[in-house]
Amino acid sequence: MTLPLIVAITGATGVIYGVELLRVLKSLGQPTHLILSEAAGLNFAIETPYPLEEVRSLADVVYNNKDVGAAVASGSFRTRGMIVAPCTVKTLSAIANSFTYNLVVRAADVQLKEGRKLVLMVRETPLHRGHLELMMRAADCGAVILPPMPAFYHQPQTIMDLVHQSIGKALDQVGVEHELFRRWSGHGPAAARHNAQEAQSAPSVPSVQPVPPPAH
Ligand SMILES: Cc1cc2nc3c(=O)[nH]c(=O)nc-3n(C[C@H](O)[C@H](O)[C@H](O)COP(=O)(O)O)c2cc1C
Repeated sequence: MTLPLIVAITGATGVIYGVELLRVLKSLGQPTHLILSEAAGLNFAIETPYPLEEVRSLADVVYNNKDVGAAVASGSFRTRGMIVAPCTVKTLSAIANSFTYNLVVRAADVQLKEGRKLVLMVRETPLHRGHLELMMRAADCGAVILPPMPAFYHQPQTIMDLVHQSIGKALDQVGVEHELFRRWSGHGPAAARHNAQEAQSAPSVPSVQPVPPPAH
């Protein structure tokens, strides 16, 4: 049985990271359990054309953020881990202090106490010392701090290439195989041969096509 991965989407800019994460995991057949913070709902309306119902439909199970008695609130409910994409400073702060006032934070705290992977795609800039200390505190408790910072060595052509590179890095952390971006394999003639071979071989997992915005 494949254990579910918990995906939480909070109210930082970049809720598209969470949507694409859900879409990719669905295409890979990886079960997902979704928690949306209340603030994430506002950002969906501001930043994307997606109705919340469409976002929820990408997950296998959807929880209410107020339901701190949900399955994922207990360590006895087994999961593959959890990715918070994107993660606000507020949610980071609550996680770093085990202030489990909602299901996102409780589920994250459970992953840490059970020694499972918790990946926080923290999004804020610039960062003051307090933000950095919160990240250190969460990292000391076992969280992986993985801000969505774009890379360019894979020669992205579209915004979605950048989004996929960041969520691909998060999926690497929880051991989900994917082909979301071309990995660095060095440079020079040997690397060029390797890259040419890679380009010719078929991907081992389905690629994800961008989905057009819903008709209103
Ligand atoms: C358009 C928009 C963008 C925001 N971007 C960020 C952000 O990048 N990082 C952040 O920490 N908070 C951001 N916020 C503020 C959070 O939404 C706010 O602190 C909220 O209370 C967080 O709640 P949550 O962690 O439960 O989602 C943003 C708010 C709005 C409306």
